[in-house]
Amino acid sequence: MASSDLLSLLLALGLLHSSDPLPDATPWPFSLPSTIQLPCRASVTDYGAAGDGKMYDTAAIQAAVDAVAACGGGPVRFPPGDYLTATILLKSGVVLDLAEGARLLGGTREEDYPPESHRWYVVLAEDAAGVGITGGGEINGQGWVFVRRRDPRKNVMVSWNSTGACLGDECRPRLLGFLRCRNVRIWNIRLVDPAYWCLHLVGCDNSSIREVTILGDFDSPNNDGIDVEDSNNTAIAQCHIDTGDDAICPKSSAGPVVNLTAADCWIRTKSSAIKLGSASWFDFRSFLFDNITIFDSHRGLALQIRDGGNVSDVTFSNIRIRTRYYDPSWWGRAEPIYVTTCPRELGSRAGLISGLRFINISAESENGVFLSGSGGGLLQNLSFVNVNLTFRRWTDYPDGVVDYRPGCQEMVRHSTAGLMVEHVSGLEMDRVRMRWHKSSSKGWNNPIEFWPSTVNGLSFREWYSEEY
Ligand SMILES: *[C@@H]1O[C@H](CO)[C@@H](O)[C@H](O)[C@H]1NC(C)=O
Ligand SMILES: *[C@@H]1O[C@H](CO)[C@@H](O)[C@H](O)[C@H]1NC(C)=O
Ligand SMILES: *[C@@H]1O[C@H](CO)[C@@H](O)[C@H](O)[C@H]1NC(C)=O
Ligand SMILES: *[C@@H]1O[C@H](CO)[C@@H](O)[C@H](O)[C@H]1NC(C)=O
Ligand SMILES: *[C@@H]1O[C@H](CO)[C@@H](O)[C@H](O)[C@H]1NC(C)=O
Ligand SMILES: *[C@@H]1O[C@H](CO)[C@@H](O)[C@H](O)[C@H]1NC(C)=O
Ligand SMILES: *[C@@H]1O[C@H](CO)[C@@H](O)[C@H](O)[C@H]1NC(C)=O
Ligand SMILES: *[C@@H]1O[C@H](CO)[C@@H](O)[C@H](O)[C@H]1NC(C)=O
Ligand SMILES: *[C@@H]1O[C@H](CO)[C@@H](O)[C@H](O)[C@H]1NC(C)=O
Repeated sequence: MASSDLLSLLLALGLLHSSDPLPDATPWPFSLPSTIQLPCRASVTDYGAAGDGKMYDTAAIQAAVDAVAACGGGPVRFPPGDYLTATILLKSGVVLDLAEGARLLGGTREEDYPPESHRWYVVLAEDAAGVGITGGGEINGQGWVFVRRRDPRKNVMVSWNSTGACLGDECRPRLLGFLRCRNVRIWNIRLVDPAYWCLHLVGCDNSSIREVTILGDFDSPNNDGIDVEDSNNTAIAQCHIDTGDDAICPKSSAGPVVNLTAADCWIRTKSSAIKLGSASWFDFRSFLFDNITIFDSHRGLALQIRDGGNVSDVTFSNIRIRTRYYDPSWWGRAEPIYVTTCPRELGSRAGLISGLRFINISAESENGVFLSGSGGGLLQNLSFVNVNLTFRRWTDYPDGVVDYRPGCQEMVRHSTAGLMVEHVSGLEMDRVRMRWHKSSSKGWNNPIEFWPSTVNGLSFREWYSEEY
């Protein structure tokens, strides 16, 4: 085959971008030995994508992905423009490369998504390896279209439950789904306004998520930032997450979550910044959260273990937290640190939480730390080292409630304490300092409360509590 014929063939197949250097410039073989790597890339515009934000570009984008996957993987380029799409199936080896100024817009019609509600994602990768998303552009779920009624307390959302495909008020498409994938890489991208959860890893191994900005609607429920479900070896770094629901949320439904790190991130949420659970049927093991700033969130570091999975070896270090009250329709009561394990409902199993370390933490909050095991000593061996807690009230929401939701005792009226502990065995406090703002401390200047009196193996070193 002559080299010019080969070039035309590659261009026709979309395996070469027409702006690539001409192969004529380099010696080109007459026939193609199987060892030669074809330059494998595509631009969605070569496949007819309009990029006008009005016409669906699904077919063009999918064709570009399929062509690049067929020749072994590579980037699929999106030049600046708005690309409206139904679900795109990402294939092994393919990296979506959205240029700055390029936006992938998720469709807002039910028929834009696969029939099975568990596959409702704008971008979906299943059983794939080496997939990625990058380029400095944006993927946008158009979540505002799913708001039925705006409410600054909590928006009321559309639910696609009419067909019975899924039940309740949580039937909306997620933004990105990686199901049973290996070596996922997501970096330098903005994920904006998901209709439901934003970035969902399920049953994945060896994922890297860095320099990702997630902007969800602050008033919309269920727009979690990153949900790491049943997945091992996940590294999250340099992420900026500003969203209504939980920001980084490991969950276990069908398998454990092992080796998760999140570092150098900034988070604001109307729910929990870091939350383990509440789906917790399997274990959570070996997690490190380091150098994280949590700003004006409803909860800071949270564990809600409800379903019999066990948590062990989790470190939170060098974390700055500011938590405040929001409307009580959101789970959370301004706790900077919140650790609970209790059976979700009658008949659920309880999980053991052990080996939690809080090191170098500073918090300013409207409520205290809440540590709650349940009967049987299910909260064991926690340590707090160099933890500064400043208490001050600056919103008008009422306090005096302990929040066990979901399940357990739900909301319980209770006096407020700097540190409330129940059913704990093994708690080490080394250099824990509380400061109480004079004007706010009235009625809740109780540094520690043990309730009920089932607390064993406590050690305190250099404890301070003072007004300022
Ligand atoms: C669908 O969701 C709405 C709330 O958005 C709820 O009122 C209705 O009961 C749900 N229907 C079903 C079948 O789940
Ligand atoms: C894990 O992913 C990284 C890329 O993020 C890759 O370099 C490395 O080889 C992968 N490790 C395994 C065991 O596949
Ligand atoms: C994660 O590791 C555990 C072993 O600790 C294993 O049972 C599980 O299958 C792994 N999950 C994935 C998705 O690789
Ligand atoms: C977790 O990380 C450790 C240390 O890197 C490694 O030895 C272990 O195999 C990992 N566990 C899983 C389930 O991948
Ligand atoms: C902590 O994270 C921030 C980004 O949120 C980064 O600018 C800073 O360099 C990090 N600090 C350390 C000590 O790594
Ligand atoms: C949690 O640990 C208990 C023993 O403490 C064990 O019986 C149970 O099976 C563990 N849960 C899981 C999901 O492995
Ligand atoms: C805690 O802070 C101290 C002083 O800044 C530092 O030396 C130490 O390495 C930090 N510990 C951790 C686990 O980051
Ligand atoms: C806590 O306050 C003490 C005394 O002001 C200070 O030395 C220490 O660095 C602070 N620790 C943190 C984690 O902010
Ligand atoms: C808690 O620490 C005690 C004393 O070091 C130890 O005997 C026990 O096994 C630990 N519990 C867990 C669940 O690690």
